[in-house]
Amino acid sequence: MTDPRLPLTGVPDVDAGHAADEASGLGSEVLRWLESSGWAQPRHIHNGRYARIYEAHARNGLKVAVQVQAPYALQRPKARHTLGNYLRLKLLPWLTPVHPNLVRYLSSGVLRLKIPETGRRLRLYYIVMPFIEGGTLQQALGDPAFRTGGLERLHGTILGILEGWSAIHARGLRQGDISPSNIILENGTWNPVLIDLRFSLRFAHKLIHEHRRFRSTLRAMLTGDWQNLRVFTPLSAEAVMAYWQSGRPDAESTRQLRAWMDFEAALGENGRLYLASPPKLLAAAREWASARTETGPVAYSVQGGRMMPR
Ligand SMILES: Nc1ncnc2c1ncn2[C@@H]1O[C@H](COP(=O)(O)OP(=O)(O)OP(=O)(O)O)[C@@H](O)[C@H]1O
Ligand SMILES: [Mg+2]
Repeated sequence: MTDPRLPLTGVPDVDAGHAADEASGLGSEVLRWLESSGWAQPRHIHNGRYARIYEAHARNGLKVAVQVQAPYALQRPKARHTLGNYLRLKLLPWLTPVHPNLVRYLSSGVLRLKIPETGRRLRLYYIVMPFIEGGTLQQALGDPAFRTGGLERLHGTILGILEGWSAIHARGLRQGDISPSNIILENGTWNPVLIDLRFSLRFAHKLIHEHRRFRSTLRAMLTGDWQNLRVFTPLSAEAVMAYWQSGRPDAESTRQLRAWMDFEAALGENGRLYLASPPKLLAAAREWASARTETGPVAYSVQGGRMMPR
């Protein structure tokens, strides 16, 4: 699978950036800091676009994930250590609603490091959260085990995402990046948990961005265009049906899938739900999911590359 991570304007290539950070001796400094802060067996597990993720253990056995800002990405304007950014980070653990579909934040702060080799002093944001055992939705979309749950699993996943997203909005906050790599499906239950929350109070343009990200996530799930999440090309309704039918060809599933395609179409730019608040979307999603199975199949036409109910 190709790396879907977007290059950042004005910021070096993700892998090259992390490699340079590593070569500077950053990795061992972060591990040393984690151990001296009481986190046992720290281990680096992921390089993200803006941050590195470590896992570690508290003395009571609690496993945590620690996200530490990546020095190479500090050139990004939003990564600067402004008072606003700092306050937002410090407030994250208190602002995040306690919710089964949202990651918990335990603590956050600024890590001050000196790289011995170069003498460079760094101030890096970090955040500590309970480790969620599972895989990202992005991984699940490429995993046949996810699809064996059929439409029921699809519904559960979509509703769970909407539940978490709605809980954030109920507090007047924006998540900003509802994407398959920012959703972890818990082992055993496939319960979706939103991670990588970066709260913002700014309104209109954030909301549009969030909706776009949510819709591309939704479409990726509905259409099975899973290898190419960031460059989605709308598939025809027929292609979608054929795809899902090949996995689970019973009539009830087909009806339910149609209900969800109907729902997705309603999110279209001309649809009444476009830019509806996430709590409204959640209510609508529940309604579509239940009502449509009772009323039977919905007919579709493809207009301008979109699936629209006839
Ligand atoms: N609390 C957690 N529990 C388990 N794994 C986690 C947790 N937080 C992050 N991860 C892992 O680290 C990855 C990156 O996390 P996150 O999205 O928060 O960082 P990022 O810097 O935005 O990375 P990316 O650019 O890859 O999205 C996740 O996809 C997940 O695999
Ligand atoms: Mg992320």
